[in-house]
Amino acid sequence: MAGTSAPSLAWRLEKTGHVDSTSDLVGLRAREGAPEGLVIWAESQKKGRGRLGRSWISPPGCGLYFSVLLRPPVPGEQLASLSLVTAVAMAEGLSGACGMEIGLKWPNDLRIEGKKVGGILLDFVPEGGKQPAVVAGIGINLRTPLGGFPPKFAKQTTSLEGAGRRLPEESELIGGLLERFDQWYRTFLDSGFEPVRQRWEALCDGIGSQVSVPLAGGTAAGKVAGIDAAGRLLLDTGGGKLLSVDAGEIIES
Ligand code: BTN
Repeated sequence: MAGTSAPSLAWRLEKTGHVDSTSDLVGLRAREGAPEGLVIWAESQKKGRGRLGRSWISPPGCGLYFSVLLRPPVPGEQLASLSLVTAVAMAEGLSGACGMEIGLKWPNDLRIEGKKVGGILLDFVPEGGKQPAVVAGIGINLRTPLGGFPPKFAKQTTSLEGAGRRLPEESELIGGLLERFDQWYRTFLDSGFEPVRQRWEALCDGIGSQVSVPLAGGTAAGKVAGIDAAGRLLLDTGGGKLLSVDAGEIIES
């Protein structure tokens, strides 16, 4: 946005009970023409969705489950960056609210001491020829009991309470997260992705670590070097070569 600053988002927070998925609900409202700033926050979800087609287990009282509607006035190829904008905002908001370090793992896992405590799912809602709307769905493990995570992920997953952190009251927590979201969203609209990229790299807890990323045609391996101007993961594959990966999941060795 040239010559003027993006205005603050007027969040409209709707609290609801047991739903299929807050992202599905916000997607539906987007199709009906809801303006950006709508936030749906659920007590629990029956069909919570995670990245890569996974489920997001969402029982009542265990986590924060909410989705946010955005209609960013940016070129379509920049929309995917919003998952990293959201990640930076959530990491800072959680750190501020709970007094702890929150790290990021590409593309948008929120972590405490290397264990996942939250994640972000970005959906695009087609708008018949116009720019798609964006739904950012956020799930944060507040107090998931031991044994409450799927066995495959149990070792790499934690909750804020499980990590021994002070938990603020939930509406206070969500208010702080949305405030930070608003700040980073406006930074992105006013100044582009570069400030977000720098902050994302500063928050990433895996820079320099050796990883692999399964891809359709084989596996990419190297040291995490950072992210590029489009939010792609940069892997240092040795000999000064950087490989960029635009989607997938990091496996840490
Ligand atoms: C991930 O796999 O890391 C992303 C998880 C995103 C889960 C949240 S919970 C609120 C919103 N509604 C959904 O169905 N998914 C997202």
